[in-house]
Amino acid sequence: MGLLDEQRAYYQARAGEYDEWWYRQGRYALQPDEERRWFADVASAEQALDAFAPAGDVLEYACGTGLWTRRLARHATSVLAVDASPAVITLNQARNLGAHVRYHQADIFAWTPPPAAYDVVFFSYWLSHVPADLFAAFWAQVASALRPGGRVFLIDSHHTAELPGHVQQRTLNEAASSGWSSASGSPPTCPPPWRRSAGA
Ligand SMILES: C[S@@+](CC[C@H](N)C(=O)[O-])C[C@H]1O[C@@H](n2cnc3c(N)ncnc32)[C@H](O)[C@@H]1O
Repeated sequence: MGLLDEQRAYYQARAGEYDEWWYRQGRYALQPDEERRWFADVASAEQALDAFAPAGDVLEYACGTGLWTRRLARHATSVLAVDASPAVITLNQARNLGAHVRYHQADIFAWTPPPAAYDVVFFSYWLSHVPADLFAAFWAQVASALRPGGRVFLIDSHHTAELPGHVQQRTLNEAASSGWSSASGSPPTCPPPWRRSAGA
């Protein structure tokens, strides 16, 4: 199985425990100081997204269980939430975010979004999963999906010495099952036009 197949399989298997990581429960619990920092970072990202106001037609890549889809749905006219994992899509759908939120199960690397159809493209904890050799093609896909004047909002881990390398091995709650998740680790630099819009 190739790395990207393993990555998809890992998130499919992990669907039911993904939010435990986000809320720092169980084995994902942090020390009090780290926990405070984590939730402060989350609050800051949430405020930044609200200030950005993702209005209009929004494409969300790698939507996961809906931790961000629910926030996009408050601002957007429509959201197309795309993910490879049927299990995470089911969890996301269970949030009942409204008829303006639609879902599409697809491998992002094998899918072409409708051209010039979106006002906003959003992705959280996805760019770090895009391998270096697919990075430029991914950004070209984002550019093609956006209408003129369209905007991008992304959230991801800050690269630090504690997150070295390009591939991380992850385990699931059940010790018997384990999976891989790739991450580009030291991310390639965004192409210049995107870098310019990063602070917007
Ligand atoms: C780290 S999770 C992020 C989920 C969500 N964006 C969030 O921040 O809560 C990565 C997501 O990418 C999805 N994924 C992994 N590989 C994919 C692929 N090739 N195509 C589409 N989705 C993929 C997984 O199923 C998982 O939901």
